Amino acid sequence: MTIAPVRWADDRLVLLDQTQLPAREVERPYERWEAVADAIRTLVVRGAPAIGVAAAFGVALAARQSQATGFDGLLADLELAIKGLAATRPTAVNLFWALERMKQTVLAARALPIAEVRTRLLAEAEAIRDEDIAANRAMGAHGAALVPANARILTHCNAGALATAGYGTALGVVRAAHAAGKVALVWVDETRPVMQGSRLTAWECVREGIPHRLIADVVAASVMARGDVDLVVTGADRIAANGDTANKIGTYSLAVLAAHHRVPFYIAAPFSTIDPALASGAEIPIEERDASEVRRVGAQPTAPGESPVFNPAFDVTPAGLIAAIITERGVFRPPYRF
Ligand code: MRU
Repeated sequence: MTIAPVRWADDRLVLLDQTQLPAREVERPYERWEAVADAIRTLVVRGAPAIGVAAAFGVALAARQSQATGFDGLLADLELAIKGLAATRPTAVNLFWALERMKQTVLAARALPIAEVRTRLLAEAEAIRDEDIAANRAMGAHGAALVPANARILTHCNAGALATAGYGTALGVVRAAHAAGKVALVWVDETRPVMQGSRLTAWECVREGIPHRLIADVVAASVMARGDVDLVVTGADRIAANGDTANKIGTYSLAVLAAHHRVPFYIAAPFSTIDPALASGAEIPIEERDASEVRRVGAQPTAPGESPVFNPAFDVTPAGLIAAIITERGVFRPPYRF
């Protein structure tokens, strides 16, 4: 039952195509970094940690693609790949963090034969993947301790196994709490416009037998007003030094609703999602995606083709609305200092 969205097999990267879920489980092989960059851009692989892991394997593939016979030629090829992979999605800092790790790995291997550099890059990508799974399990344990008995938990987007190397961040907390017998119900926000909640989080809940109920995003206020939500937990794409957190569009409105209804609002994210270089959330670059995501559901038009659209993929929740940030190193409370 293990969900492996990003895996390495037979000298290739294999991605579970998340654009096809929940209708079809299709795995796609990748041998070129350019194709991995496309997969990140088109959401075949998505979720901050999963993007970072896929990009790291993309650099390992670039080293295999390179025809260079000396270190300088290889470095030039890898820098091109790193630049191309970095240009795919701007908000999740895990992408840039993973690419920087790969760059440092190649720089540290300057004196080694090219074949050994390739081996080290693959080993580093595998380490990033394995560390992510371990971080998620630790986060799950820390987060589950915050979950009361018979909890009704609301989550947004997909911060599950699919969004990471495995297990998940916010959904990892849910998984751990469920394993401890504490989860009565998970409210799954469908997460317009790309539907990561209904397509991916609900799919994971079905597979794991986690009791859940799918709601349209606009229903969150009603279930909170009815007293049917004990806590909200979501993932993050980038956390500024002061705790301001960028996550899937709609997260900020949930945090405001949670504050109004006195429901604790938690973020679960690994340290690789924290960007200490940014003082506040105002500095986080927010990706804007294509209008077609809002004007259509699948092939079906839901708006006039000529209606102008604003389609930000993420919003920023101010630190003051976040009760705690759950990481692999423990639970942080405001004022946030990481
Ligand atoms: O556009 P997506 O699907 O990549 O957005 C994903 C999210 O916003 C997740 O909540 C976030 O990346 C955390 S994933 C553990």
